[in-house]
Amino acid sequence: MCGIVGYTGHRPAEKILLDGLKRLEYRGYDSAGLSLGGKELLTIKAVGKVRNLEQETQKYGELKQTTGIAHTRWATHGIPSVRNAHPHLDNSGKFALVHNGIIENYAELKQKLTAKGYTFASDTDTEVVANLIAEFYKGDFVQAVASALHRINGTYGFAVLCTDYPDTILVARHGSPIVIGLGDGCNLVASDVAPLAAYTRKVIYLDDGDLAVLTPDNVELRTIENLPVEREVSNIDWNVDSAGKGQYEHFMLKEIFEQPESISNTIRGRLDRKLKSAMLSGLGLTPHELAKISRIVIAGCGTSMHAGMVGEYFFEDIAGIPAEVEQAAEFRYRNPIIDPDTLVLPISQSGETADTLAAVREAMNKGAVVAALCNVVGSTIARETGRGIYLHAGPEISVASTKAFTCQVTVLLMLALMLGRNRRLSRDDGDALLQEIERIPDLIRETLKQAPAIEKLANKYAYAEDFFFIGRGTLYPTALEGALKLKEISYVHAEGYHAAELKHGPIALLDDKVPVMALANAIPGQEKMIGNIQECLARHSPVIAVVTGDDNRVCEFTQDIIRVPASSRYVAPLTTVVALQLFAYYFAKARGCEIDHPRNLAKSVTVE
Ligand code: F6R
Repeated sequence: MCGIVGYTGHRPAEKILLDGLKRLEYRGYDSAGLSLGGKELLTIKAVGKVRNLEQETQKYGELKQTTGIAHTRWATHGIPSVRNAHPHLDNSGKFALVHNGIIENYAELKQKLTAKGYTFASDTDTEVVANLIAEFYKGDFVQAVASALHRINGTYGFAVLCTDYPDTILVARHGSPIVIGLGDGCNLVASDVAPLAAYTRKVIYLDDGDLAVLTPDNVELRTIENLPVEREVSNIDWNVDSAGKGQYEHFMLKEIFEQPESISNTIRGRLDRKLKSAMLSGLGLTPHELAKISRIVIAGCGTSMHAGMVGEYFFEDIAGIPAEVEQAAEFRYRNPIIDPDTLVLPISQSGETADTLAAVREAMNKGAVVAALCNVVGSTIARETGRGIYLHAGPEISVASTKAFTCQVTVLLMLALMLGRNRRLSRDDGDALLQEIERIPDLIRETLKQAPAIEKLANKYAYAEDFFFIGRGTLYPTALEGALKLKEISYVHAEGYHAAELKHGPIALLDDKVPVMALANAIPGQEKMIGNIQECLARHSPVIAVVTGDDNRVCEFTQDIIRVPASSRYVAPLTTVVALQLFAYYFAKARGCEIDHPRNLAKSVTVE
């Protein structure tokens, strides 16, 4: 949520900053800006995408400054506008600051600063901090920033410039990720590794309470208490190309088509053919500790929560362990019943979602075993839990999550296999499940072949302003996910419902203008689903049915069919969701929507 990039070195900073912002644009895209350092600061801002900022910057001709900071914004305080875009400057123009996060006591600080004569040009919480630094400045940049940070409540990732220190960037972190890239004759900072990968493989993830001073040839790490600290240097394990669009028109389509490969990467080296089980060593639990787990609580938001809801079926059905899913934001306010035998599984693609992080901290505080399912290596949730299972899905850039979901579900299935074999699952049943997991990439490949047929259906239904998605069993959370995909990228009202729940109220909304996507795969519950389809048809709703293989049971009721390959109820969510992702993509495309950057959204939601 919001993207920060900074560069100090010997090359002109402007192009590096703009290039970095483009790679971060998925984090927020309602406005952008940059400040270039020197004896005077040059600050340029624009509303909308980074390309608008680029055009604005071109008006200044060749810019030679070799130090700068930049920001792409997802609005929290104040509407998207040039006035509210970052960087923000103090009244004297000595300091420029970019910020991710929220300053909770900004109103009180603003009042105090106003009483001292400071004025404010924006509605943001960030501008307050720029003036607060100026208020404490007596010639020592680090001291002034540290003093300001001590007065702030809330979350932040900051990068700050000061005209008295023309080649220095000061960065600090509390609750919003900051990564430093160690270059050759240059150093960089960003809110995630995406903009750094083109310049270096070596990065340092700051911890909360860290402050760093970057110059072209040095990175000095301290705490905001001004104590020296050392942090591990990590390697970036993906290349710049994997974060590009390749031959695809949108990141979302690329990521949908990447799924056979990303799931292969998720599975690789984790299946134990001898024991007919899975090996998930990142969990760091002995077989004895695994056997003691008496309950599983899954916490996540959005798509990750839907993956967790599929996992709930796996754990109960395959491993016989009671499982429940909590919307992560509710977790810490519900006083959840957690004991040392409860395994808490936070699920988060980004590993930075503030609500999920809060749940992690609450669960750890209550003494649970907490193991995270994250995609982004080195992310806050992955580091704070210290144990878990990485998805290895590769960078997910599209705001609408696709490959992370299928990799999450695959990890949950492997975990259920491992826990099941550790208790009641027979060797033969373990073997059957293991073989099915191995087949997932091929089953997804088969499903992707349906893309042209799905595109035709999406074009046919692109008129609809309301949509229902219904499913049963493991396809119930799949229906929720299908509806989420459609609404977030096409802005069409879409609701996911359990097929049985429809008749308890929502059926009142059905008529000939409200299509229903019915997940009618051949899995347990299919007969009842066929009954539910008839209930929809009786209200004149057009029905699109997802069916398995050459199953023609629903063909007498509807001609609009999406075929996915046959699989068990455990794998059906994976094949089916891919079809629904494609449907949402082509539907949004037919309506001319901006698919990779849907309005009002941002990837990585770092505010609660
Ligand atoms: C939907 C989507 C969001 C995220 C949610 C959690 O396509 O991407 O619903 O799933 O914001 O994000 P992570 O998984 O990063 O915690």
